[in-house]
Amino acid sequence: MRRTILIQLVSFLSFLSFSGAINLDASSDDSTRSAANAIAKDLMSFYNESASNSPPGVFDKKYSWWKSGAAWDTMIDYWYLTDDAQYNSVVQKALKDQAGAAGDFMNPSLVALESNSDQATWGLAALSAAERSFPEPEDSPSPSWVTLAQTVLEQQASRWDASTCSGGLHWQISPLNLGYTYKNSLANGLHFELAARLAAFTGNQTHVEWANAAYWWAWNIGLINQSTYSVYDGADSLLACKNIVPVQWSAPAGAFLYGSATMYSMTKSDLWHNRVIGHLNAINSTFFYPPGHSTNEPVLFEASCEPENVCTGDQSVYKNTLARSMAWTASLMEETADMIHTLLGSTATAVAAGCTGGDTGSICGKSWLLGRWDGTIGFDQELTALSVVQARLVEAKRPLVTANETAEGAGTAGNSEEAEGKIGGSGKMYLSWSAVGVGLVAVIFTVYL
Ligand SMILES: *[C@@H]1O[C@H](CO)[C@@H](O)[C@H](O)[C@H]1NC(C)=O
Ligand SMILES: *[C@@H]1O[C@H](CO)[C@@H](O)[C@H](O)[C@H]1NC(C)=O
Ligand SMILES: *[C@@H]1O[C@H](CO)[C@@H](O)[C@H](O)[C@H]1NC(C)=O
Ligand SMILES: *[C@@H]1O[C@H](CO)[C@@H](O)[C@H](O)[C@H]1NC(C)=O
Ligand SMILES: *[C@@H]1O[C@H](CO)[C@@H](O)[C@H](O)[C@H]1NC(C)=O
Repeated sequence: MRRTILIQLVSFLSFLSFSGAINLDASSDDSTRSAANAIAKDLMSFYNESASNSPPGVFDKKYSWWKSGAAWDTMIDYWYLTDDAQYNSVVQKALKDQAGAAGDFMNPSLVALESNSDQATWGLAALSAAERSFPEPEDSPSPSWVTLAQTVLEQQASRWDASTCSGGLHWQISPLNLGYTYKNSLANGLHFELAARLAAFTGNQTHVEWANAAYWWAWNIGLINQSTYSVYDGADSLLACKNIVPVQWSAPAGAFLYGSATMYSMTKSDLWHNRVIGHLNAINSTFFYPPGHSTNEPVLFEASCEPENVCTGDQSVYKNTLARSMAWTASLMEETADMIHTLLGSTATAVAAGCTGGDTGSICGKSWLLGRWDGTIGFDQELTALSVVQARLVEAKRPLVTANETAEGAGTAGNSEEAEGKIGGSGKMYLSWSAVGVGLVAVIFTVYL
């Protein structure tokens, strides 16, 4: 009872302190849903289905193609987590159009320039649709979501190249492309995640083997640091992958985390347990404590470019990949939930504090470190903001279904009564989010009193 009053008081104070245009009380499902609703609307305002300068399914040619795949993946989560189905037909059409006639997301207009990480991003969006029982469009039922994901995984497995560096995928698909000789953690991490999640979804042993092989390769070659679990950018196969480029990005770190958590959920093994904890600790210490920022208020930031404000187009969306990966990891391995929800909860509050721009007064900025809107407007900004803000709703959902247990079969998956039951049952997760509020309110009192 006392806890309830405290939580309400904190919520009220947080509301007063952070009443920007997006009023987010990061400890409330309702508040989170309406914030996600506003950000999704702003995100979708960058999509024009009938625009002549972009093919259907692509936000705008000026953004890298993979980002549209990440955006549809995020919008599938948006529907799954908020029950707002208003964008579903747009999302269905976008994914099926971009999958192409062969159902492999080898975009004919880009084929010479497409990378394995681009293709995996789209394959993972199709897999998210399968896992969440996202409806198939009525007019084009096949190939199904899971078949699209499987096609991508099989193509990638066939590109596994043991002739250099004892294995691994090249970054680029075409040998004619600059970057082909580079074997990087993003392409290999997303391939690993795709194999792991498909293994969990279908129970197919071949997919389990591919996931194991992809992880061990990255580990043995040194793309994953064996003492810290830091994930490094990549290595050149012309130099036998001996020259690891030690830059760290949030997206591949997220892919290895989510894939490992999926493998843990299947095996319950110590091996995968330790890998999840290792990756999570590396992510915590690398991507949440920007220089000069209070340790009471962790905020997700792109460590290798954001402090110097030099993030390029692709790098400004990596936080989207990491936030989604962390959110689902929390549901696959309960032991990680407190930490993940604390990290993403204080980040969500920081994100919302920066969503006060533009005509709507709700446009989000790209950096979340200022406590206010940073003056920038764009698709990247809305996409990263949405994945962070809606992340807390994952805790009200059951872990993702497998092919043997569809969402319908699972009955009341994620309805709010069950969610409250879960929170009431453990009390743990709810408090962890509120604790974030307490910390922030305490900080504000210190400043103003
Ligand atoms: C979408 O694109 C079409 C064709 O280019 C254009 O006529 C229309 O005005 C655009 N709609 C919006 C909302 O921008
Ligand atoms: C699904 O059911 C099939 C047939 O009973 C079984 O072989 C497979 O391992 C199951 N998959 C999972 C992920 O449990
Ligand atoms: C398992 O996956 C492999 C590779 O994708 C595929 O060739 C095989 O047909 C699958 N097995 C089953 C039983 O679906
Ligand atoms: C792994 O990380 C530790 C700690 O940062 C560092 O000392 C070590 O050199 C790294 N190992 C490799 C192989 O990069
Ligand atoms: C997360 O990282 C911060 C900063 O390095 C550290 O103070 C904190 O103890 C870490 N949290 C956990 C749970 O390891």
